[in-house]
Amino acid sequence: MQDTGYGNIVVIGASGALGQAFVERLVADNDTDSVHINAFSRSPVSFASPDVHTGFIDLTSEQTIERAAATAAGFGPIDLVLVTTGILHTDILKPEKSLRDLSAEKFQRLFAIDTIGPALVAKHFLPELAKDRRAVFAALSARVGSIGDNRSGGWYAYRAAKAALNMIIKNAAIEMGRRYKDTIVVGLHPGTVDSHLSKPFQSHVPPEKLFTPDFAVSKLLAVIDNLTPVDTGKCFAWDGQPIPP
Ligand SMILES: NC(=O)c1ccc[n+]([C@@H]2O[C@H](COP(=O)([O-])OP(=O)(O)OC[C@H]3O[C@@H](n4cnc5c(N)ncnc54)[C@H](OP(=O)(O)O)[C@@H]3O)[C@@H](O)[C@H]2O)c1
Repeated sequence: MQDTGYGNIVVIGASGALGQAFVERLVADNDTDSVHINAFSRSPVSFASPDVHTGFIDLTSEQTIERAAATAAGFGPIDLVLVTTGILHTDILKPEKSLRDLSAEKFQRLFAIDTIGPALVAKHFLPELAKDRRAVFAALSARVGSIGDNRSGGWYAYRAAKAALNMIIKNAAIEMGRRYKDTIVVGLHPGTVDSHLSKPFQSHVPPEKLFTPDFAVSKLLAVIDNLTPVDTGKCFAWDGQPIPP
């Protein structure tokens, strides 16, 4: 069996399509004797492998984030943190097509989950990363969070929340880089992936561009494996291409 070299791994958002696929692929790709996978989620989820240890996290409760970080750190310094949480829409909140659709409620909800939550995860998990070797903190962002790449407008709150997440990632990378030269902090764009999040927006996506979660995470894990410290602070797509800020 292949071994990625990660000993203590954390997946935040393990109940989501991408989070679940990350856990399953990490189980399949690692020698399970030497890896410990912490899978945190708000909704309960179970995995067949005994090497996956599930736990609760709600990004709107800093206490649960702090507790999850302490639990994961109890298994030793962390090699890889994957933040796979996020929202684009809810039953009552739809992405905006025009300024007319903006509401404070949409901004507050999306920023709470897509920006503030991952920032608090960084606050509590980055200090627990391994400091004497390569360690990676990767958060799922989105290409639409790129200001330079924005050609079609719309989706104000989601775009703004992901752009703000990219700034948090850059800031955290600078702060960590001052002391830990082998710590890598990045954002990742998974492509358009079949999930609850993308479901309402899939009709115009050609079938070959709508990825399965397993395909997307296989590509993203390959991107992560190839990251070096010069990549810290940046955002990369599933095919390894950097996304402009
Ligand atoms: N799918 C795509 O096409 C696509 C494209 C670009 C970027 N992304 C990004 O990829 C990430 C994952 O998306 P996905 O497609 O896997 O979506 P998904 O299947 O809808 O999963 C979203 C995850 O976020 C979790 N979450 C939401 N609010 C939370 C909270 N308060 N506390 C803890 N967890 C919370 C959900 O937990 P519950 O199960 O408890 O609701 C779920 O595990 C997101 O950041 C998204 O922006 C996705």
